[in-house]
Amino acid sequence: MTRHLLDLFELSDEEVERVLELSSQLKLNYQRGIRQPLLPGRVMALLFEKPSLRTRVSFETAMMHLGGNTLFLGADVGWGKREPTADFARVLSSYVDVIVVRAFRHQDVEELASYSKRPVVNGLTDLAHPCQALADMLTIRELHGSLRDRRLAYVGDANNVAASLAVACAKLGVRFAIASPAGYRFDDAFLSRLKQAKPGFEVEQSADPREAVRGAHAVYTDVWTSMGQEAEREIRMKAFANYQVDAPLMKLADPAACFLHCLPAHRGEEVAAAVIDGPQSAVLQQAENRMHAQKGLLAWLLDAKV
Ligand code: CP
Ligand code: NVA
Repeated sequence: MTRHLLDLFELSDEEVERVLELSSQLKLNYQRGIRQPLLPGRVMALLFEKPSLRTRVSFETAMMHLGGNTLFLGADVGWGKREPTADFARVLSSYVDVIVVRAFRHQDVEELASYSKRPVVNGLTDLAHPCQALADMLTIRELHGSLRDRRLAYVGDANNVAASLAVACAKLGVRFAIASPAGYRFDDAFLSRLKQAKPGFEVEQSADPREAVRGAHAVYTDVWTSMGQEAEREIRMKAFANYQVDAPLMKLADPAACFLHCLPAHRGEEVAAAVIDGPQSAVLQQAENRMHAQKGLLAWLLDAKV
Protein backbone atom coordinates (compact mmCIF):
# COMPACT_ATOMS: atom_id res chain seq x y z
CA MET A 1 0.00 0.00 0.00
CA THR A 2 1.22 3.49 -0.80
CA ARG A 3 2.16 5.49 2.28
CA HIS A 4 1.14 9.11 2.54
CA LEU A 5 1.76 11.86 5.05
CA LEU A 6 -1.46 13.82 5.28
CA ASP A 7 -1.43 14.08 9.04
CA LEU A 8 1.03 13.06 11.77
CA PHE A 9 -1.65 10.74 13.19
CA GLU A 10 -0.65 8.37 10.37
CA LEU A 11 2.88 7.89 11.70
CA SER A 12 3.75 5.79 14.70
CA ASP A 13 5.79 7.41 17.49
CA GLU A 14 8.82 5.43 16.29
CA GLU A 15 8.35 6.61 12.72
CA VAL A 16 8.28 10.25 13.81
CA GLU A 17 11.47 9.64 15.81
CA ARG A 18 13.05 7.96 12.79
CA VAL A 19 12.23 10.89 10.48
CA LEU A 20 13.77 13.31 13.00
CA GLU A 21 16.84 11.15 13.36
CA LEU A 22 17.34 11.03 9.58
CA SER A 23 16.77 14.78 9.41
CA SER A 24 19.47 15.50 11.99
CA GLN A 25 21.88 13.16 10.26
CA LEU A 26 21.28 14.74 6.84
CA LYS A 27 21.53 18.23 8.35
CA LEU A 28 24.89 17.44 9.90
CA ASN A 29 26.21 16.05 6.63
CA TYR A 30 24.91 19.06 4.73
CA GLN A 31 26.69 21.38 7.18
CA ARG A 32 29.89 19.43 6.54
CA GLY A 33 29.44 20.07 2.82
CA ILE A 34 28.09 16.64 1.97
CA ARG A 35 24.98 16.50 -0.20
CA GLN A 36 24.12 12.82 -0.33
CA PRO A 37 22.37 11.90 -3.61
CA LEU A 38 20.00 9.47 -1.93
CA LEU A 39 17.16 9.92 -4.42
CA PRO A 40 18.80 10.15 -7.87
CA GLY A 41 16.40 10.60 -10.75
CA ARG A 42 13.33 10.82 -8.50
CA VAL A 43 10.79 13.49 -9.34
CA MET A 44 8.63 15.47 -6.94
CA ALA A 45 5.52 17.38 -8.02
CA LEU A 46 4.42 20.35 -5.93
CA LEU A 47 0.74 21.07 -6.37
CA PHE A 48 -0.06 24.35 -4.65
CA GLU A 49 -3.40 26.16 -4.36
CA LYS A 50 -2.02 28.84 -2.00
CA PRO A 51 1.14 30.94 -1.86
CA SER A 52 4.26 29.61 -0.15
CA LEU A 53 7.88 30.53 0.39
CA ARG A 54 9.17 28.07 2.98
CA THR A 55 7.25 24.94 2.07
CA ARG A 56 7.78 25.27 -1.65
CA VAL A 57 11.43 26.28 -1.65
CA SER A 58 12.53 24.00 1.20
CA PHE A 59 10.94 20.97 -0.49
CA GLU A 60 12.43 21.90 -3.86
CA THR A 61 15.93 22.44 -2.49
CA ALA A 62 15.72 19.33 -0.30
CA MET A 63 14.86 17.18 -3.31
CA MET A 64 17.58 18.76 -5.42
CA HIS A 65 20.21 18.25 -2.71
CA LEU A 66 19.15 14.60 -2.62
CA GLY A 67 19.80 14.25 -6.35
CA GLY A 68 16.18 14.40 -7.50
CA ASN A 69 14.15 16.88 -9.52
CA THR A 70 11.01 18.91 -8.90
CA LEU A 71 8.05 20.23 -10.87
CA PHE A 72 6.04 23.13 -9.50
CA LEU A 73 2.39 22.89 -10.55
CA GLY A 74 0.19 25.92 -10.08
CA ALA A 75 -3.38 26.56 -11.09
CA ASP A 76 -2.77 25.83 -14.78
CA VAL A 77 -2.86 22.04 -14.31
CA GLY A 78 -6.50 22.46 -13.32
CA TRP A 79 -6.75 20.17 -10.30
CA GLY A 80 -10.43 19.91 -9.39
CA LYS A 81 -11.41 21.89 -12.47
CA ARG A 82 -10.48 20.20 -15.73
CA GLU A 83 -11.15 16.56 -14.83
CA PRO A 84 -12.16 14.35 -11.92
CA THR A 85 -9.58 14.03 -9.15
CA ALA A 86 -9.50 10.26 -9.74
CA ASP A 87 -8.16 10.79 -13.28
CA PHE A 88 -5.90 13.65 -12.22
CA ALA A 89 -4.27 11.69 -9.39
CA ARG A 90 -3.80 8.49 -11.36
CA VAL A 91 -2.19 10.31 -14.26
CA LEU A 92 0.03 12.59 -12.16
CA SER A 93 1.23 9.72 -9.99
CA SER A 94 2.17 7.73 -13.06
CA TYR A 95 4.73 10.44 -13.90
CA VAL A 96 6.23 11.39 -10.54
CA ASP A 97 7.54 9.66 -7.40
CA VAL A 98 6.00 11.91 -4.75
CA ILE A 99 3.40 14.70 -4.67
CA VAL A 100 3.49 17.56 -2.17
CA VAL A 101 0.14 19.34 -1.97
CA ARG A 102 -0.92 22.64 -0.42
CA ALA A 103 -4.68 22.95 -0.55
CA PHE A 104 -7.59 24.75 1.03
CA ARG A 105 -9.56 21.63 1.94
CA HIS A 106 -7.97 18.68 3.72
CA GLN A 107 -10.59 16.37 2.24
CA ASP A 108 -9.47 17.27 -1.28
CA VAL A 109 -5.97 16.07 -0.42
CA GLU A 110 -7.38 12.88 1.09
CA GLU A 111 -9.27 12.26 -2.13
CA LEU A 112 -6.16 12.89 -4.23
CA ALA A 113 -4.14 10.52 -2.05
CA SER A 114 -6.78 7.82 -2.27
CA TYR A 115 -6.17 7.60 -6.02
CA SER A 116 -2.43 8.28 -6.06
CA LYS A 117 -0.03 5.42 -6.71
CA ARG A 118 2.78 7.46 -5.14
CA PRO A 119 3.14 9.05 -1.71
CA VAL A 120 1.24 12.29 -1.16
CA VAL A 121 2.59 14.75 1.42
CA ASN A 122 0.47 17.48 2.99
CA GLY A 123 2.19 20.83 2.51
CA LEU A 124 -0.62 22.55 4.52
CA THR A 125 -4.39 22.26 4.51
CA ASP A 126 -7.11 23.81 6.64
CA LEU A 127 -6.64 21.01 9.19
CA ALA A 128 -2.95 20.21 9.38
CA HIS A 129 0.61 21.27 8.65
CA PRO A 130 2.58 18.14 9.52
CA CYS A 131 5.86 19.09 7.82
CA GLN A 132 5.97 22.29 9.84
CA ALA A 133 5.56 20.35 13.08
CA LEU A 134 8.42 18.01 12.16
CA ALA A 135 10.76 20.97 11.66
CA ASP A 136 9.50 22.53 14.90
CA MET A 137 10.28 19.40 16.90
CA LEU A 138 13.73 19.23 15.32
CA THR A 139 14.32 22.84 16.36
CA ILE A 140 13.21 22.37 19.97
CA ARG A 141 15.35 19.26 20.24
CA GLU A 142 18.40 21.14 18.93
CA LEU A 143 17.83 24.00 21.36
CA HIS A 144 16.92 22.00 24.45
CA GLY A 145 18.90 18.81 23.92
CA SER A 146 15.85 16.57 24.13
CA LEU A 147 12.10 16.67 23.75
CA ARG A 148 10.83 14.45 26.50
CA ASP A 149 9.05 16.39 29.26
CA ARG A 150 9.72 19.76 27.68
CA ARG A 151 6.74 22.08 27.63
CA LEU A 152 5.48 23.86 24.53
CA ALA A 153 2.99 26.70 24.92
CA TYR A 154 0.99 27.78 21.89
CA VAL A 155 -0.78 31.12 22.08
CA GLY A 156 -3.50 32.00 19.58
CA ASP A 157 -5.68 30.33 16.99
CA ALA A 158 -6.08 26.54 17.34
CA ASN A 159 -5.49 26.21 13.62
CA ASN A 160 -3.73 23.79 11.25
CA VAL A 161 -0.28 24.60 12.70
CA ALA A 162 -1.46 24.19 16.30
CA ALA A 163 -3.19 20.89 15.54
CA SER A 164 -0.10 19.32 13.99
CA LEU A 165 2.04 20.62 16.84
CA ALA A 166 -0.28 18.98 19.36
CA VAL A 167 -0.03 15.64 17.58
CA ALA A 168 3.77 15.91 17.29
CA CYS A 169 4.02 16.72 21.01
CA ALA A 170 1.80 13.76 21.89
CA LYS A 171 4.02 11.44 19.87
CA LEU A 172 7.31 12.73 21.21
CA GLY A 173 6.51 13.19 24.90
CA VAL A 174 6.37 17.00 24.88
CA ARG A 175 3.85 18.64 27.21
CA PHE A 176 1.46 20.88 25.28
CA ALA A 177 -0.50 23.88 26.53
CA ILE A 178 -2.63 26.15 24.39
CA ALA A 179 -4.31 29.46 25.14
CA SER A 180 -7.04 30.60 22.75
CA PRO A 181 -10.15 32.75 23.01
CA ALA A 182 -13.58 31.10 23.00
CA GLY A 183 -14.61 30.11 19.51
CA TYR A 184 -11.03 29.52 18.36
CA ARG A 185 -10.17 26.35 20.30
CA PHE A 186 -9.66 22.81 19.06
CA ASP A 187 -12.91 21.16 18.09
CA ASP A 188 -14.20 18.04 19.81
CA ALA A 189 -13.53 15.84 16.78
CA PHE A 190 -9.82 16.68 16.87
CA LEU A 191 -9.55 16.33 20.65
CA SER A 192 -11.23 12.95 20.67
CA ARG A 193 -9.03 11.72 17.81
CA LEU A 194 -5.99 12.81 19.79
CA LYS A 195 -7.31 11.14 22.94
CA GLN A 196 -7.90 7.94 21.02
CA ALA A 197 -4.42 8.02 19.50
CA LYS A 198 -2.70 8.93 22.80
CA PRO A 199 -4.95 8.22 25.79
CA GLY A 200 -2.41 9.47 28.35
CA PHE A 201 -1.74 12.77 26.62
CA GLU A 202 -3.37 15.89 27.96
CA VAL A 203 -3.91 19.12 26.02
CA GLU A 204 -3.81 21.89 28.62
CA GLN A 205 -6.36 24.32 27.20
CA SER A 206 -7.08 27.70 28.72
CA ALA A 207 -8.16 31.19 27.79
CA ASP A 208 -5.18 32.75 29.55
CA PRO A 209 -1.85 33.03 27.68
CA ARG A 210 -0.03 33.53 30.99
CA GLU A 211 -1.26 30.22 32.31
CA ALA A 212 -0.11 28.41 29.16
CA VAL A 213 3.29 30.09 28.96
CA ARG A 214 4.35 29.70 32.60
CA GLY A 215 7.50 27.53 32.67
CA ALA A 216 7.34 26.72 28.94
CA HIS A 217 10.51 25.76 27.07
CA ALA A 218 9.08 26.93 23.75
CA VAL A 219 6.50 29.65 23.15
CA TYR A 220 4.80 29.40 19.77
CA THR A 221 2.31 31.51 17.90
CA ASP A 222 0.89 31.80 14.39
CA VAL A 223 -1.14 34.37 12.50
CA TRP A 224 -4.63 35.21 13.70
CA THR A 225 -6.03 35.04 10.17
CA SER A 226 -4.90 32.09 8.09
CA MET A 227 -4.91 31.91 4.31
CA GLY A 228 -8.50 31.62 3.14
CA GLN A 229 -9.94 33.38 6.24
CA GLU A 230 -9.29 36.94 5.07
CA ALA A 231 -12.98 37.89 5.21
CA GLU A 232 -12.89 37.25 9.00
CA ARG A 233 -9.87 39.47 9.60
CA GLU A 234 -11.62 42.30 11.45
CA ILE A 235 -13.50 40.02 13.79
CA ARG A 236 -10.39 37.93 14.45
CA MET A 237 -8.28 41.02 15.22
CA LYS A 238 -10.74 41.81 18.01
CA ALA A 239 -11.00 38.24 19.30
CA PHE A 240 -7.22 37.83 19.56
CA ALA A 241 -6.35 41.34 20.78
CA ASN A 242 -5.16 40.01 24.17
CA TYR A 243 -3.18 37.11 22.70
CA GLN A 244 -0.05 38.83 21.48
CA VAL A 245 3.23 37.19 22.49
CA ASP A 246 5.14 40.14 23.92
CA ALA A 247 8.16 40.58 26.20
CA PRO A 248 6.21 40.46 29.53
CA LEU A 249 4.57 37.19 28.43
CA MET A 250 7.94 35.69 27.45
CA LYS A 251 9.24 36.52 30.94
CA LEU A 252 6.84 33.94 32.40
CA ALA A 253 8.40 31.16 30.34
CA ASP A 254 11.51 29.21 31.29
CA PRO A 255 14.52 31.59 31.14
CA ALA A 256 15.99 29.44 28.35
CA ALA A 257 12.72 29.34 26.39
CA CYS A 258 12.78 29.89 22.65
CA PHE A 259 10.19 31.78 20.66
CA LEU A 260 8.85 29.95 17.59
CA HIS A 261 6.60 30.98 14.70
CA CYS A 262 6.01 29.08 11.48
CA LEU A 263 6.15 32.37 9.51
CA PRO A 264 5.06 34.48 7.75
CA ALA A 265 4.54 36.64 10.86
CA HIS A 266 2.73 39.90 11.51
CA ARG A 267 4.74 42.02 13.93
CA GLY A 268 2.45 44.03 16.21
CA GLU A 269 -0.35 41.46 15.87
CA GLU A 270 0.31 37.92 17.14
CA VAL A 271 3.89 38.78 18.13
CA ALA A 272 5.71 41.90 19.27
CA ALA A 273 8.72 42.89 17.17
CA ALA A 274 10.86 42.85 20.34
CA VAL A 275 10.16 39.12 20.71
CA ILE A 276 10.43 37.84 17.15
CA ASP A 277 13.51 39.97 16.53
CA GLY A 278 14.91 39.44 20.03
CA PRO A 279 17.49 37.05 21.49
CA GLN A 280 15.03 34.23 22.32
CA SER A 281 13.66 34.02 18.81
CA ALA A 282 14.58 30.85 16.89
CA VAL A 283 12.34 31.48 13.90
CA LEU A 284 15.13 31.50 11.33
CA GLN A 285 16.62 28.25 12.58
CA GLN A 286 13.09 26.85 12.56
CA ALA A 287 12.50 27.98 8.95
CA GLU A 288 15.83 26.52 7.84
CA ASN A 289 14.92 23.26 9.54
CA ARG A 290 11.97 22.87 7.18
CA MET A 291 14.51 21.84 4.55
CA HIS A 292 16.37 19.42 6.80
CA ALA A 293 13.22 17.85 8.22
CA GLN A 294 11.76 17.37 4.77
CA LYS A 295 14.94 15.69 3.59
CA GLY A 296 14.53 13.22 6.44
CA LEU A 297 10.89 12.77 5.52
CA LEU A 298 11.61 12.20 1.83
CA ALA A 299 14.43 9.77 2.56
CA TRP A 300 12.10 7.82 4.86
CA LEU A 301 9.00 7.96 2.66
CA LEU A 302 10.85 7.03 -0.55
CA ASP A 303 12.87 4.37 1.23
CA ALA A 304 16.31 5.81 0.46
CA LYS A 305 19.27 3.69 1.37
CA VAL A 306 20.87 5.94 3.98
N1 CP B 1 5.57 28.13 7.35
C1 CP B 1 5.16 27.95 6.09
O1 CP B 1 4.56 26.92 5.72
O2 CP B 1 5.51 28.96 5.24
P1 CP B 1 5.05 29.13 3.73
O3 CP B 1 3.59 29.45 3.76
O4 CP B 1 5.88 30.23 3.18
O5 CP B 1 5.29 27.81 3.01
N1 NVA C 1 -1.99 29.05 9.71
C1 NVA C 1 -1.33 29.63 8.57
C2 NVA C 1 0.01 28.98 8.38
C3 NVA C 1 0.81 29.48 7.21
C4 NVA C 1 2.12 28.78 7.07
C5 NVA C 1 -2.21 29.48 7.35
O1 NVA C 1 -2.85 28.42 7.19
O2 NVA C 1 -2.27 30.40 6.55
